[in-house]
Amino acid sequence: MIPITRKPIEEPAWSLRGGAPLAGAYRTVYLGVERVGSGKLVLVNAAHPVRTFETRLAPAAGSLLRETGSQEPDIALDAVCLAQLTALLDGCGGRERIAVVSGYRSKEKQRAIYTDTLRERGPAYTESYVALPGASEHQTGLAVDVGLADGGLDYIAPSFSEGAEEAASFKRLAPAYGFVQRYEEDKTALTGIACEPWHFRYVGRPHAAVMARENLCLEEYTAFMKTYAFGGKHLIVADAGLLAETYYVPAAKGFTPVPVPAAGAADWDVSGNNEDGFVVTAVYGKGAKRHGR
Ligand code: DAL
Ligand code: ZN
Repeated sequence: MIPITRKPIEEPAWSLRGGAPLAGAYRTVYLGVERVGSGKLVLVNAAHPVRTFETRLAPAAGSLLRETGSQEPDIALDAVCLAQLTALLDGCGGRERIAVVSGYRSKEKQRAIYTDTLRERGPAYTESYVALPGASEHQTGLAVDVGLADGGLDYIAPSFSEGAEEAASFKRLAPAYGFVQRYEEDKTALTGIACEPWHFRYVGRPHAAVMARENLCLEEYTAFMKTYAFGGKHLIVADAGLLAETYYVPAAKGFTPVPVPAAGAADWDVSGNNEDGFVVTAVYGKGAKRHGR
């Protein structure tokens, strides 16, 4: 155990700062290097393909989500992502009008989509809107495409314009439920993908709010988190009743000793970044169980 003086926990509705560790003490969990590829904060793009990804998928049809299209008849998502999506749809009043168009895809499914789109719409379109097989976030179950179910929805690029009230409300509330629009217009040089108003990625709280408020795409956020290593200042975020502490731990070759809060005050988890390390998220106080993480 590493003894650390506890700070009083009193935070405004929103704040973000580098600060001293919040937990009174930390204990160590040991994670194998393969775990770098799993968890809600994995960076997935052409340079960071999906490795072995541990996920627990749940069928969207079992919840009351509206599905659409024949291209993906049995939509499934990571179970936490699905629960949060359902809550977000309720929160924004979008259950009736917002349809879930695509969720988890196997690598083979992504390959078929890539090949079909290449044939039907050509290389420029495909490279802009379809990730290479092996490099799609959909392979983690943490990404979801949504569309306004007014008519026929395009499977690759469903309509989800912010001009529509439900879409605007969904996007505005998304961070409170752990989601971000993954591909924004001003980040295409970093993401390698064109603007996709319909593609949302679950990263959990408080990460989604930090990304949205600081205008960081996941490529930038992965680098940003590395500036908050366990041995230095931690990233402390207060967000609507939730107080979170988060920090980075670089991966060792075999097993990495990862410090996590020792006592029951925090609800914590660890995610790989799919690059070179882990991010610990610890949530304190009454916000710990709200909206999940
Ligand atoms: N449309 C996104 C980039 C994907 O294919 O994963
Ligand atoms: Zn998508």
